[in-house]
Amino acid sequence: MQIVHHLPDLRRATAELRGGGARVALVPTMGALHAGHMALVDAARATGARVVASIFVNPKQFGPNEDLSRYPRPAEADKALLIAHGCDLLWMPGVEDMYPAGFSTNVSVSGVSDGLDGAARPGHFDGVATVVTKLFNQVRPDTAYFGEKDFQQLAVIRRMVADLDMGLEIVGVPTAREVDGLALSSRNIYLSPDERTRAVALPKALAAAKRAIEAGEPDWQEAAMASLAEAGFVTDYVSLVDAGTLGDPRPGRPRRLLAAARIGTTRLIDNLDIEP
Ligand code: PAJ
Repeated sequence: MQIVHHLPDLRRATAELRGGGARVALVPTMGALHAGHMALVDAARATGARVVASIFVNPKQFGPNEDLSRYPRPAEADKALLIAHGCDLLWMPGVEDMYPAGFSTNVSVSGVSDGLDGAARPGHFDGVATVVTKLFNQVRPDTAYFGEKDFQQLAVIRRMVADLDMGLEIVGVPTAREVDGLALSSRNIYLSPDERTRAVALPKALAAAKRAIEAGEPDWQEAAMASLAEAGFVTDYVSLVDAGTLGDPRPGRPRRLLAAARIGTTRLIDNLDIEP
C-alpha cells in the first residue's frame, strides 16, 4: 500500500492506479479504523476497483465543545488494517494541505442537513460536505463508499452529488455491529466498561421501536425514550423519517428510524430501516 501526504504525490499515485483503465473507489475516513470501516474497503475491493482510503480528522466538522483534540489517531494500527484488507493507496493529508491559509469555501446542503444531527450539531454537515467535496476533487474516484451507520451523512452526500453533478456513484454499506448489537464506532473506546455494558440499550431500544412501529403501535417513541433513560442515556432524538429526504414519513415511501443519545460524555448514533 502506498501512503501519500501531499496533493502532487496523490495525483501521481492515482494516475498510476488508473493505468490500464482500472476503476478507482474511495473510502473516506477519520481513522481509528475498525471492522465497520473495513466493511467499506471490502465492499469496494469486491467490485475489482483499486481502493483509495483517506484518513483525515476534519476540524471543520467538529463543534467547539466536541472531541476534536481527543479524537483517537492510531496511525500505525490503521495502516496495518488497511494493508491486511488490500487497500491500494492511503491518502493522509495534513490540516495545512487540506485547508491552506486563505481557505474560504463552504459547501452547504440544505433540507436534508437541517434536522436530527444537523440541529444537534450546528455546522457539522457543512464541514462534512466541504471536506468530502475536496476528497472527491482530489482523488476523482468512480465510486465512493459510506456507512449506513451515519445515515444522515449518507443522505447529505447523495443529495450533494446529485445537486452538483459530481458524476460519481455513492454506495451505502450496512452497519457493522458488535455481537451484542452495538454499532461499531471509533467513539466506542471512550466508553467505560460500565457504560459499554449499558450502551446496548441503544440498539435494543431501536429494535423494539422498529417492531412496535411495524405492528402499528402508537407509543413506540415514549417507550424508546424510557428504556434509554433507564440505561442512563440522555436522548437527543428518536425519530421516524422519510429515508430519502429525512423529512416527515410519506405514505408508501421507505422510512428510517434514527436515534442519537449520550451516555456519560460519549454521544452515540444508530438507525434501522422500517418496513412500509
Ligand atoms: P468516520 O466516522 O471515520 O467514518 C468513515 C466511514 O465509515 C463513514 O462512511 C461511516 O459511516 C463508516 N462507518 C463507521 N462506522 C461504521 C459501521 N459500524 N458500519 C459501517 N460503516 C461504518 O464519517 C466520517 O468518518 C467522516 O464524516 C467523513 C465522511 C470521513 C468526512 O470527514
